[in-house]
Amino acid sequence: MSSEKIQRVGVIGAGQMGAGIAEVCARAHVDVLVFEPTRELAAAGRARILRSLDRGVSSGKITEREREQAAWRLRFTSDLGDFADRQLVVEAVVESEEVKTRIFAELDKVVTDPDAVLASNTSSIPIMKVAVSTANPERVVGMHFFNPVPVLPLVELVTTLKTSEAVSQRAEQFASEVLGKQVVRSADRSGFVVNALLVPYLLSAIRMVESGFATKEDVDKAMVLGCAHPMGPLALTDLVGLDTVKSIADSMYEEFKEPLYSAPPLLMRMVEAGLLGKKTGAGFYQYE
Ligand code: CAA
Ligand code: NAD
Repeated sequence: MSSEKIQRVGVIGAGQMGAGIAEVCARAHVDVLVFEPTRELAAAGRARILRSLDRGVSSGKITEREREQAAWRLRFTSDLGDFADRQLVVEAVVESEEVKTRIFAELDKVVTDPDAVLASNTSSIPIMKVAVSTANPERVVGMHFFNPVPVLPLVELVTTLKTSEAVSQRAEQFASEVLGKQVVRSADRSGFVVNALLVPYLLSAIRMVESGFATKEDVDKAMVLGCAHPMGPLALTDLVGLDTVKSIADSMYEEFKEPLYSAPPLLMRMVEAGLLGKKTGAGFYQYE
């Protein structure tokens, strides 16, 4: 394994997850380069990270000086060619196999370090499907972070039949020693550990609301008060994003053909209507 410490990280995408991953890396004193295809998306991504850093300051998690220093460590680009010197790249774009494979094929050509780690933050797509789009699948691994990234301490590490042990160790060491996350390992199966358990629960809650079994408010209240969950399943679906939950369900259904993974019609209609949850201002609930 390369003994060189990872100091230059790339993050592809600055949506909810990419922004969170970039933020925790910058807070951990790492140089971070973030890709968004346009200036507008880059500006929105930077604003998202700065808002979260502000929240970290107001809640006493970080000092003003730490916020300033983290902000200095973040740069944005619209050119994947700028990722040539990165030692770890985490891809966090939309949950689409087609988009992810295109990005990995390009990244693999650009990143020069043979020991670099090319990681996907996919929620459900088997990592091998992404790895085979590269000429060096031994560099490809799953590093699955949780939302919100600055708050939740888990990373699922997913290795494929082709990932080298050196790459998986390098990724694990970075997540645990540099970012301070707890790591669990999962086999390369759609949904990995957490979403294979969580997503059927979210889909069941949507089916309950769809069939009139209970209101969304009562389903959420029941799970918060009855099971001490921090939020109910409909609020959590809104937080994750309905488009993402649907894509995860589709990918797990494609892999296992289990009815419990199939997306309920209500979820499909809401995604078609653009009711994607918190990120678009409306989902099961309304947001400002
Ligand atoms: N930076 C630093 N700290 C932050 C922060 C940030 N950006 N945002 C929130 N926090 C901290 C707050 O300071 C607070 O800390 P203290 O308790 O020490 O004061 C804590 O996080 C909780 O924040 P809030 O009090 O503002 O809000 P809350 O109590 O309503 O919690 C929540 C919000 C953290 C989202 C909580 O409701 C929660 O954990 N919900 C469940 C989230 C979950 O299950 N996520 C997993 C989704 S599945 C997934 O991610 C995988 C996938 O592939 C889909
Ligand atoms: P998001 O909708 O907030 O952001 C999507 C990102 O993808 C943006 O940066 C956007 O610019 C980019 N994008 C969209 N269409 C694109 C295209 N055609 N080509 C290139 N880039 C494109 O999504 P998110 O919640 O940040 O999810 C990103 C990834 O992280 C997904 O793979 C998702 O499954 C995974 N993930 C999500 C969560 C969650 O709770 N939302 C948790 C863990 C992992």
